[in-house]
Amino acid sequence: MEQDNVLAVMGSPGSGKTTTAVKLALSLAAQKKNVILVFCDPFTPVIPAILPADTVHDTSIGSLLTAPGLTQTQILNACVPIKESEYISLLGYCGGESLTHYPKITRDKVVEFFVMLRHLSDYIIIDCASVFEADPTSIIAIEMSDAVLKIGTANLKGISYFQTHSPMLADSRFRKETHKTVIGNLKVGQDWEAVSGQYGGVEYILPYVAELEQQDNELSLFYPLVQPESDSYRKAISSILQEIFSVQSASVPVVPTIQTERKAKAKSSFKLPFARSKGEF
Ligand SMILES: Nc1ncnc2c1ncn2[C@@H]1O[C@H](COP(=O)(O)OP(=O)(O)OP(=O)(O)O)[C@@H](O)[C@H]1O
Ligand SMILES: [Mg+2]
Repeated sequence: MEQDNVLAVMGSPGSGKTTTAVKLALSLAAQKKNVILVFCDPFTPVIPAILPADTVHDTSIGSLLTAPGLTQTQILNACVPIKESEYISLLGYCGGESLTHYPKITRDKVVEFFVMLRHLSDYIIIDCASVFEADPTSIIAIEMSDAVLKIGTANLKGISYFQTHSPMLADSRFRKETHKTVIGNLKVGQDWEAVSGQYGGVEYILPYVAELEQQDNELSLFYPLVQPESDSYRKAISSILQEIFSVQSASVPVVPTIQTERKAKAKSSFKLPFARSKGEF
């Protein structure tokens, strides 16, 4: 049997799903593992919100999920490389898009996409949309992933979200009991123990760290966290990877410094997005 390599990150709005997915990917990349980060959200496309406006992103995940005959080459061509790590590439909706730009996305097509995807990289990390009623991609990602991180906030908003959305994952195919529960973006004054029972227990805490908010504002989420105050967050990310993929954290980050110039990426007809490929294609 193939090794587990697909992780879905789901959870309540603003709980830190995207931030966590990116930091998990960076930690894997620091160990020279290829990662495809998939941003499922068609309602607020993520790539234009976390990369500079000059990023070349010409093929949307929307066209992959509605392509009549999807191929591995098409998926790889749609991958957006990032300058901070040759090991990470991204798939997601383009800026200004919505689901109305595409024919209806079917379950069969999403399944086909995820079946192909797992063979294209060492690891696949899927950042799910918090609302998955209107688009099948996130909920099928939760169903098909080897592991699921469920992130909620330590407040009534997070609890209310899960009260509404947990019943949608009640079917045994979602293996809800295996999901790892995380309290994300935990701020000073919030009491995670007080909400733990509502979440059915909590396995990890991702504390609020100011450096993350700064990175979000500066579009530098793909740079490592360097402040000593961010240590507890870094440690939690390492522990999650250790438990889910049995990956130990690397001591030296291989991502470049913030001064590195972004090079415009002209995409040729077919180009590997990675330093090396995983499978045959
Ligand atoms: N641990 C943290 N410490 C500080 N800020 C955080 C932390 N986690 C997330 N944030 C900030 O909170 C905001 C929301 O985070 P993020 O976008 O990752 O959440 P999300 O769950 O993906 O949200 P959405 O539901 O909109 O997709 C961002 O501004 C991010 O920088
Ligand atoms: Mg997000």
